[in-house]
Amino acid sequence: MTTTALTHIASLVTNDPSLGNGTPLGLIQDAAVVIEGDRIVWTGESSKAPATDNVLDAAGRAVIPGFVDSHSHLVFAGDRTQEFNARMSGQPYRAGGIRTTVAATRAATDEELSANVARYLAEALRQGTTTFETKSGYGLTVEDEARALRIAGRHTDEVTYLGAHIVSPDYADDPAGYVDLVTGPMLEACAPHARWIDVFCEQGAFDGDQARAILTAGLAEGLHPRVHANQLSYGPGVQLAVELDAASADHCTHLTDADVDALGQGNTVATLLPGAEFSTRATWPDARRLLDAGATVALSTDCNPGSSFTSSMPFCVALAVRDMGMTPDEAIWSATAGGAAALRRTDIGRITPGARADLVLLDAPSHVHLAYRPGVPLVSAVWRSGQRVV
Ligand code: NIG
Ligand code: FE
Repeated sequence: MTTTALTHIASLVTNDPSLGNGTPLGLIQDAAVVIEGDRIVWTGESSKAPATDNVLDAAGRAVIPGFVDSHSHLVFAGDRTQEFNARMSGQPYRAGGIRTTVAATRAATDEELSANVARYLAEALRQGTTTFETKSGYGLTVEDEARALRIAGRHTDEVTYLGAHIVSPDYADDPAGYVDLVTGPMLEACAPHARWIDVFCEQGAFDGDQARAILTAGLAEGLHPRVHANQLSYGPGVQLAVELDAASADHCTHLTDADVDALGQGNTVATLLPGAEFSTRATWPDARRLLDAGATVALSTDCNPGSSFTSSMPFCVALAVRDMGMTPDEAIWSATAGGAAALRRTDIGRITPGARADLVLLDAPSHVHLAYRPGVPLVSAVWRSGQRVV
C-alpha cells in the first residue's frame, strides 16, 4: 500500500500524552506523520521520519486531529430566522420552537432532507470536522423518525434516535401516550437504524421519570443512551445520564455541585455546546468547574436550525476559550479526543499509529490560533480516512 509522509509540521497535536511535551495534547514540534491507506502508521519528529512513497511538506504549519462533532441535529428542513431575530430582540428561547421545524421536516421529501444533511456536512468538513453524530427528532411520528434515521445513516455511522425531542403536537393532550409510542412502536421501527438513544430532559419536554423510561426502553433494544441535560434549567438529566452510564450528558449549562461531582466521578462525558448559548444569549456553561472536578469535557456544535445554527467547530473552540474558562489546549482536546470519548470511540480524535488518518492542516503555526484568530478560515487541508477531502 502507498505510504505518504506529511513533514515539517511546526506543531502537531497527537492527543497522546506519552508523546512530545508530555501534556494531554502530546504536542510534537517539527513533526511528521505517515499515512498508509486509511490509517496513521507513524508519528514523531520530522528528522526521524521513515522513507515513504510520497512526501508532502507542511512548511511550518500546524496539524491537529480532525474534529469530532458528537452532537448535531442535521435531518431537518426550513429555517428559523424569525425566531432568532425575535430572540435577539429580547424573546427567550423555548423548547416549543422545535414544532416549527417538525412541520417543515414532515413536509420535506427524502431527497430534500438528504441534500440538507449533505450540505451542512460539506460545510463542516471545510472547517475540519471528520466525524459527526446526528439525530432524528424533527419527525415525531413512527414513519418520520425512522425515515430521519435512515437518511442520517447514509451520511454517518453515529446515528441517534431522538423521538423524545418534544411531545409530538399530535399528542399535545396525551404526553403519556406519546411516551408509550416512543418506547413502543417508534422504538421498534427506529432501533435498527440507530446506535444511540437520546431524550430532551427539560421543562416543556420530558421529565426525569419519562426520560428514564425512554432511555431504559432504548437500552433494552440495544441502543446506548446520551441525554440533552440541564440546558435551560436545573433538573434530573445529568444525574440520570450518569446513573445509566450514558456516553454523554449534553449542554450541562445549569449544574448543581452534586451534578458536577457526578460528572467528575462517572464515565459520562460532559458535552458542552457553546453555539447554543451564543445563539440563545444564555449563560455560558462553566467548563472550568467541570474540568477542575475531573470530568471529561467534549465540545460540539449542536448544529440545528433553532438553538445553534453553526457547523463550525473552530467557532465553538474560540467561544469555549473566551467565555467558558477553557485554555486553548483544553478546548482543542475537547473538540477532538473529547468528542471521540463522547462517542466511545478510540480510533479517532488522536494522531497516533493505528488511528484513522483524520487530519487537519491549519494555515497557522499552532493550534492556539484557532482561538487567537476567531472567525478566520484557518483550515487549509483536511484528510479523512487517509483521503484528502479539502
Ligand atoms: O440541543 N435542546 C433541544 N434540542 C436542540 C434544539 C432544537 C431546536 O430548537 O430546534 C438543542 O439545543
Ligand atoms: Fe441538541
